[in-house]
Amino acid sequence: MKMESPSDAPDAMRREAIPATAEALFDAVLASNQRTPNPRLKQVMDALLRHLHGFASEVQLSYAELEIALDFLVRIGKATGPEKHEGILLADILGLATLVGLNDSRKALAAGGTEPALVGPFWRANQPVREQGANIASAGTPGDRLFVNGRVLSLDGTPIGNARVETWQASPGGLYENQDPGQEDMNLRARFQTDEDGKFSFRSVRPAGYAVPVDGPCGELLALQQREIMRPAHLHFIVMAEGYKTLATQIFDADDPNAYRDVVFGAVGSLLHEFEKAPDGNYVLDLDLRLERGEMRIPMCPLP
Ligand code: BEZ
Ligand code: FE
Repeated sequence: MKMESPSDAPDAMRREAIPATAEALFDAVLASNQRTPNPRLKQVMDALLRHLHGFASEVQLSYAELEIALDFLVRIGKATGPEKHEGILLADILGLATLVGLNDSRKALAAGGTEPALVGPFWRANQPVREQGANIASAGTPGDRLFVNGRVLSLDGTPIGNARVETWQASPGGLYENQDPGQEDMNLRARFQTDEDGKFSFRSVRPAGYAVPVDGPCGELLALQQREIMRPAHLHFIVMAEGYKTLATQIFDADDPNAYRDVVFGAVGSLLHEFEKAPDGNYVLDLDLRLERGEMRIPMCPLP
């Protein structure tokens, strides 16, 4: 059977030069996408081309600037490895990860679902499975003690048992354990399974804010923009349960001034919580995480 190749297509017979205008060029570029068989890819590429050409024309991007941008993207790739995912960091500092999360969960939010927040570059695969009530902070971890009591619920309030809850946080010193040779491997990280009442609980330390990594191209961009580089104190959660859309979120300490100027725009609306101080001086965080029905998905894990 003869395979159809692009040169067999009728438009390969054209012998008309593309007029040298931005409009005619855009029409030709858009036409080059019209035979894309995957409808979603076609939709995404059509819109990407429209915005990309519109953007380059709007700012009258010069060739020298295009080279800088391409070099920036190459360096984002080179700065990504087992220690750090610079690509995720880029999506985060541009507010793109937060926007995509909000759009993805619009229906759940309207029905009282928990707001999402970006996964960020520091979730690790194979976080240790721990028992309910476990202390996830290894000996010597500084900071005030924190008790987390969580429940995983459906939008109608039904407890979701057997859900997988991933959590991780930076030490009060401002670093995740994988960034810090002074911390035990997998310190302040855990995977829990909810009980039949949808509950999970653990002990930890009250987190502190930290600076995002600025040793790569994202750091250069933040400096050129004269931006703040701090994230507010937070704990990360990813909740996965059969029959429910996966929720990735973060819970922020509303007392941290950085909660109102998060460099990655993750600290939104209802995710700011008061960490209650109990009479014994320890902090308590009571938490309901509400999931929408749908297909479970395991998010891409940025770190081994
Ligand atoms: C984080 O929350 O772990 C994070 C998110 C974006 C950039 C850096 C860190
Ligand atoms: Fe974080």
